[in-house]
Order: sequence, then structure tokens, then C-alpha cells
Amino acid sequence: MRFAHISDLHIDSCKQVIYGVNPCKNLEKALAILSGLEDLGAVILSGDISNDGKEASYLLADAMLSELSVPVYCVMGNHDNRVVVKRLLEENKLTTMHFVKETVLAGYKFQFLNTVKEVSPGENMSRGFISREDIERVDLDARLFSGNCILVMHHPAFEVGGWMDARILMNREEFKSMVSGHPNIVAVLAGHNHCPSELTVAGCFYSIAPSVSTTFDSRGDRFQEIYRPAFDVYTIMGKSLSKDTLPI
Ligand SMILES: [Fe+2]
Repeated sequence: MRFAHISDLHIDSCKQVIYGVNPCKNLEKALAILSGLEDLGAVILSGDISNDGKEASYLLADAMLSELSVPVYCVMGNHDNRVVVKRLLEENKLTTMHFVKETVLAGYKFQFLNTVKEVSPGENMSRGFISREDIERVDLDARLFSGNCILVMHHPAFEVGGWMDARILMNREEFKSMVSGHPNIVAVLAGHNHCPSELTVAGCFYSIAPSVSTTFDSRGDRFQEIYRPAFDVYTIMGKSLSKDTLPI
């Protein structure tokens, strides 16, 4: 089974260009590639689905993603609007995007974590924070699950160097300490940086997906567009997990 990890779509309700990039056009290109992939079982979307947090942007993203015949499991990013998404879910207006705490795919348990701290209703911080409650939930679930686990969240839990490190998960050491106690947590998948990176810590593979929309360089100027949109595709074969990055 294969699954795709896409991130930071930044769909705008008015289909506007952001940092010189049209996010809708990039998503269309990504979907065309995804549609041709064999053995694709699911898509993981690690947040910043919307750029402006408006209802129309989520309806547009959901309609575009419905071209795929596989479920799309999402977490929210700092650009997303929890109030709007909650209402759309209650009104059954999102048919393709699923917001669940966990699911099992090919024997792997995927746990979806919220790292977006709300400072006031609908307003989020750029930096990430994971609650004590969520850390304890993952800790318990990983202990009780006999197979491998993959964690999905928006904010990265490791430094990449440069300006992006001021915006990542604040309590990352507490989080990584918990993860390191579970050899069956084999991967932690994040987004947010718009710049791909990976690191193995105590046997766990931490990966930051490239962005489908705007793309930056951790060593370059802040938010300077470099146009290298891409996404990751993982292949699960028994206990082995491998990653390929596909440019858009
Ligand atoms: Fe983003």
C-alpha cells in the first residue's frame, strides 16, 4: 500500500496568487500525478488546507480532492480556521476530507495530532504547541498497539537551522522524549515549513513534507518563494516504510 503526504495547500477562497504562486493550479497538478499512482490507499494532509480560513476555501479544497478515489485524512495548520471547519463538518459539507484522531492503514496506526494553539476564537499562533493531554494519549495508544504507529501533525518537532526554527513546535523536547520511548512509533510527519527536511531520532523517522503551494528555503530570506512544490509518497511493505518525493 502507498499513501501520499501532501501539505500546505493554502487554497484561497478567491483563487488568488500567493507569493507569486497559484495554489489551486499547483493542487490540480498534484492531483493529476496522484490520480496516476498505483496502489494508493490514502492521502495524509498535514495542515494549512486554506490560506484565508474562509468557508469557500474549504469547500473548494474538498471538491478538488474529491477527484481522488481515496480518503484524505487531515490535521489543521495555523492558517486553518477551526470554527469554520467544525461547522462545515456538522453540516456534512465536507465529503472527502476527514478529521479523525486515528485510523489504521495497512496495519499501521496513524494518529492525528493538533499542534495549533488558538489565542482567540479562529485566531492561531504561527508557532506550534502540543497539549499534555495529546502527548499522554499518544503515549498510551502506542503502548497498547501491537503494530507500528505513524504520527501526523502540522508543526515540525526538529530544528532545520535558519529562520524557520522560530516557528516550529515549542515543546518539541517533551514530545520527542515521549516518542523515543516507543520503538513502534516509526515516523512523525509534519508540514508548516514549506521546505522539506528529514531526521532520524532514536530510530524514529521525522519528515517535513515539501509544500504543494509556496516553497521557501530555510537558509534563504524569510518567505522568499523559490518554486519547488512537491509532495511525498510512502510505500508500506510489511514493517518497511520508504519515501519518494515527487515534484509537481
Ligand atoms: Fe503553510
